[in-house]
Formats: sequence, structure tokens, C-alpha cells
Amino acid sequence: MARIAVIGTGYVGLTTGACFAHLGHEVVCADIDEAKIESLRRGEVPIVEMNLDRFVAEGIASGNLSFVVGAAEASKDCEFHYLCVPTPQGPDGSADLSYLETAAAQIAPVMPTGSVVVNKSTVPVGSTGIVARVMGRNDVSVVSNPEFLREGTAIDDFLNPDRVVIGSRDQEAAIRVAGLYTGVRAPVMVTDPISAETIKYASNAFLASKLSFVNAVANLCEAVGADVNDVVLGMGYDKRIGKEFLRPGPGWGGSCFPKDTIALARIAEDHGYDFTFLREVLAVNEEQFDRTAAKVTAVLGDDPSVASVGCWGLTFKAGTDDLRQSPAIEVLKRVSAAGVKIRAYDPAVKGQIEGLDVEVVDDPYAAVDGADALVVLTEWDEFRWLDFDKVAESMTGRSVVDARNLLDRSQLERRGFDYRGIGR
Ligand code: UDX
Repeated sequence: MARIAVIGTGYVGLTTGACFAHLGHEVVCADIDEAKIESLRRGEVPIVEMNLDRFVAEGIASGNLSFVVGAAEASKDCEFHYLCVPTPQGPDGSADLSYLETAAAQIAPVMPTGSVVVNKSTVPVGSTGIVARVMGRNDVSVVSNPEFLREGTAIDDFLNPDRVVIGSRDQEAAIRVAGLYTGVRAPVMVTDPISAETIKYASNAFLASKLSFVNAVANLCEAVGADVNDVVLGMGYDKRIGKEFLRPGPGWGGSCFPKDTIALARIAEDHGYDFTFLREVLAVNEEQFDRTAAKVTAVLGDDPSVASVGCWGLTFKAGTDDLRQSPAIEVLKRVSAAGVKIRAYDPAVKGQIEGLDVEVVDDPYAAVDGADALVVLTEWDEFRWLDFDKVAESMTGRSVVDARNLLDRSQLERRGFDYRGIGR
């Protein structure tokens, strides 16, 4: 079993650390945030992520998982060093590598000889080389091992991945990193670092393209009178297309897709290739936010500024409390710009959201009380099981815009609601 330092205890770092500890490795997780480390030591996990708190508690109890302040403190007696720091979007769309470079510079003087540094953060093509240069050590290897974790299912994605990708020019280091995944049944692919980094970006950009495509198909379905649910089902039976990742919605978001798609277009441009296709994928997504907002204002009559809307769902998808680049927020910003009064409920969001003119309440019925229309923006399963007689009694109007095609249309229509989904 190996001793692994994990630098950064965000989504990726905490999941990586807890899962490696679960696989039997001795893991030391580091962060610069002292308060966060203190609460993690008590087993308090700051994010909503299925089973993560249980894995952290188990790791602490077994002695396999510990938390320290500062990257150097974690790295000084480890043989593997996972860099899991954020790479936020810089002002020009490219990824900001300052956290990565700082972490690399902090661990460089303390890492034991023969260490392997592993980039898990989503980093621009060529970053493995940048980390190696910043560290300036000939006696350590730098390897890329991109993550493909989805929020909400991160633990399962780590332990049951479709593949493990390792990018390294040093075969021995690649084999050592592959050895960390003993117990994980998945194909392990070893390639060069630049290809590994490209696999990560291209995978996210492809999935985002799939979503923009299906949203465009949904819009086409509305125009020609088809039902997108049936269209997608019929398409998905073709094994080359598949059924996954074809749910239309209000647009796609989250902490990865928007940032990574913009960054890949930027990387291409920097290397002399004009990836116009990706720019269209992004434009279709913006259009989807606009179209969804227009669908809401269209049911509010001639003067939306005197209307009120009840909203269910604020997070970028169900199963997370993450609001980063949430399509729900994008749509609500547009609806509120038309002067509409909005009250919203989300099971994972408490308190008001800065910069958004929406009253957040802690009850789904309170959100629709007196509302002219209900809009569903996140696919929380619990919304399907609410009491729609009570909803009908509370609302003033009868319009429902279901931007996730989540609710039971016939059940609502039986109660006199005017139901509008996406693409049907
Ligand atoms: C994504 C990638 O899936 C993951 O592999 C990568 O490591 C990080 O980015 P995540 O951001 O957690 O994961 O969410 P994901 O489940 O992929 O959803 C992204 C967005 O697409 C959400 O807004 C979601 O609502 C939307 N989506 C997803 C759809 O609209 N329809 C779908 O069928 C699937």
C-alpha cells in the first residue's frame, strides 16, 4: 500500500483521498484553508456528495485518512503527490494555473527522491510539462491522471470508472500509478501526458456537444410537432448513439462543462486551430437559456412585470448543492430581468443567493403560493411526488413550464394545468 499526498480538498481532492484510503492506501489530504481542515478532521464534509461523509469517517477511523494544513506538510514523506487544486477560468477563457503552480512550487523542496507527482486537476494541454518545469527536480516524475467524476456520483465514478487514463513518458511511473488502482476493475490506458490531457477536455466537450445537440433536437421537435422523449428513445437504441446523456433541459452547466469547453476552444485557438464547432456548441447552450426563459415569460401574459413565478430547483443538476454555472440561475436571471417576481425552492439550497433577485424559501409549496406559473429547473426526484392538488390550490395561475421533462404531464393536465415541457 502506498503513502499518497492529496493537495486540495475540493470535490476532486476529497473524493480521490477518501477513495484511495478506502482502497487501503495511507492518504494525507492538504488544504490551505485551516478551518476546513479542522472540520474535516472531525469528519465534517463541506459538500453534498452521496456517501462521501461515510467514506471520510471510515478513513479517519481506520487511520488511513488524515488532514493537514499546507501542501508541503502532506508531501514531505509521501511517494505519490496528487495535485487536485482548482484551475478556474481566467479572464481570456484560458485556465488559470496559478493554484497548480503554487502547489507544485510548495511541494518541490520536500518531496522524497523517486516521488511521482500526479496531475488530477483539469489542466490545459501541456501542463504536466509546466509542473515539471516549476518543480525543477530530475529525480521525480510528473504524470497526468485526469478525473472523470460526476458530482452526485463521484464515489461510484471513482471506484467503478469506465477507464483510468494515465499520461506519462516514464513507463515505470505510469505502472506505479496504475498500481494505486488495484481493486478497481476498469481498463487502464497509458499514453503520453499531452494525449491524456486532451482526452479529458475532449471527453467533456463531446458530452457538452451531445447535450447541445439534444437540446437543438428538442427545439426542432417543438417546431415540427414531434415528442423528444420518443425521438431520443428511438435514437438511443442505436448502439453507436446510446441512451446516456440525451436528456434535454434548460441548458447544461456545472463547474466543468462550461469552463472546459471554453478552455478547449481557447487551447485550439492558441495552437492555430479554429474549433468553430465548439463555439456553436456554446452558442446553442446560451440560446437554450434564452429559450427556456422566454417560455416562462410567454405564459405570464402581456405584462410579466406584474406576474409572479414559483420555481423548483436551483442547483446545476440534482444530487448536489452546487450552484456554479447552474442553468437554473441562468434562466432565472433572464426571467427576473423581465421584472417577474420569483420565489424558489431547492432541497439543497438554504438562504438567499447573492446577485440573484429571487426569494429562496424552504418549502416547495411556499414557492408556488400565489404564483401565476411554476417552473421546474432541476430534476430533483422529490418534485415528482409532491401533492399537486395542494399545488393547484396554492397557485393563482395554472401554467407549468417543466424544463427537465420531469413531472407527469397527464396527472397535471387532469388537474387543469397548462403543461409545457421541452421538445414535446
Ligand atoms: C461532468 C462530467 O460528466 C464528468 O465526467 C467530469 O469529470 C466533470 O463534469 P458534472 O459536472 O458533475 O460532471 O455533471 P454532469 O452529470 O455531467 O451534468 C452536467 C450538466 O449537464 C448538468 O447541468 C446536467 O443537468 C446536464 N445534463 C446532463 C443534461 O441536461 N442532460 C443529460 O442527459 C445529462
